[in-house]
Amino acid sequence: MAASQAAKRVLVVHYSQTGQLARAVQSFTAPLRACPGIEVVDAPIVPREPYRFPWRFLDFLDTFPECVYLDPPAIAPVAFDPDERFDLIILAYQVWFLSPSLPMTGFLGSDAARVLAGKPVITLIACRNMWLTAEAKMVALLERCGARLIDNVVLVDRGPPWSTFITTPRWLLTGRKDAFWKIFPEAGVSAADIEGAARFGRALSVALPLLSGAPTQSLLRGLGAVRVDPRYIASERIGHRSFLLWGRLLRRIGPPGSRPRRAVLVLYAVFLATMIVTVLPLTLAAAWLLRPFLSGRLREAARRLEAPSGSECDRCGDFL
Ligand SMILES: Cc1cc2nc3c(=O)[nH]c(=O)nc-3n(C[C@H](O)[C@H](O)[C@H](O)COP(=O)(O)O)c2cc1C
Repeated sequence: MAASQAAKRVLVVHYSQTGQLARAVQSFTAPLRACPGIEVVDAPIVPREPYRFPWRFLDFLDTFPECVYLDPPAIAPVAFDPDERFDLIILAYQVWFLSPSLPMTGFLGSDAARVLAGKPVITLIACRNMWLTAEAKMVALLERCGARLIDNVVLVDRGPPWSTFITTPRWLLTGRKDAFWKIFPEAGVSAADIEGAARFGRALSVALPLLSGAPTQSLLRGLGAVRVDPRYIASERIGHRSFLLWGRLLRRIGPPGSRPRRAVLVLYAVFLATMIVTVLPLTLAAAWLLRPFLSGRLREAARRLEAPSGSECDRCGDFL
C-alpha cells in the first residue's frame, strides 16, 4: 500500500464503570473494526485506585473537589505506544460533577497524553444530561495537549430531568437502574440510543479511507451528534461555581477520605440538600418567567455549544 493509502489508525481511549459507556464505544466503533481500511487500537484506562461501584454516599461526594479542579489520579500504563502513528483519536468519557470523569482526567494528565499532540480528536460522551461544562474543560485540556477537537457526540438519559434527578443517584448509589413506581423510567442512556451510535462509526468508515491524511474538520455533521438543552446552560454555571467554592475549601482541608474533610463534607451535603429544596425551585421558576425574554439568546448559545458536530440530522438516513 502507498503511504497515503495505508490503513487509517484510530486510537480509542475509554473508561466505564457500569458498562454503559463501554457499550456506546462498542456500538460506535463496530463499523470501524469491520472496515478493512481502518485499524482500531483499543485503550481502556485503568485507574491505579479503582472506583468502587455502587458508590458509598460520602465517597461519591468526596470525589467532586478533585473532579472540578481536574486533579489527575494515577493510572496504570496504557496499552499502546504514544509515539506510534494515529490518524484519529476517539476519547470516550463520562461526566463526573460537571467535569470529565477522573479516569479520563488521569489519562490527560499522564505521559501517555503526548499521543494527542497534533492529532484530530472526537469526543464521545455518555452521561445523565449535564455535559456542557465538562466538554468546555475537555476542549481546554485538548488545546493544552496540542490536539484539535473535530467532532463531539453526546448520548444522554432522555428521561425527564425531574426523574433523572432521582434515577441517576439511585443507580449510582445502589446499582439499580430499573424503572420503578410506574413513574420513574429506567436510568441511563436508552438501548436504542446506544445502538444508534453505530451511525457515527458507519459515517467514519466511509469518510476516513477516502482522506489522503488525517481528518482536519468535522466528519459527523448532519448525524444528530449533539443537542443542547438551553435549560441546562444557567444551571450548569451556577452548579459549577458552587462546586469550585466548596471544592477549594475541601481540598485545603485534606486529601479525599481524611476525617476533617469528611466532617465538612457532611456540612456540604446539608448545604446541597437545602439548595435543592430552596434555590433550585426558585431558579427554575425564574428561568421559566424569563424564558420569553431570553429564549432567543439561549437558542443562539445552544447552537454555539453544539459545535463542531451540530444537531442537524440531514445525513442520519444514510447511516442508520
Ligand atoms: C461521581 C459521579 C458524578 C456524576 N456527575 C454527573 C454530572 O455532573 N452530569 C451528568 O450528566 N452525569 C453525571 N454522572 C453520570 C455519569 O456521567 C455516567 O452516566 C454514569 O456514571 C455511568 O457511566 P459509566 O458506567 O459508563 O462509567 C456522574 C456519575 C458519577 C459516578
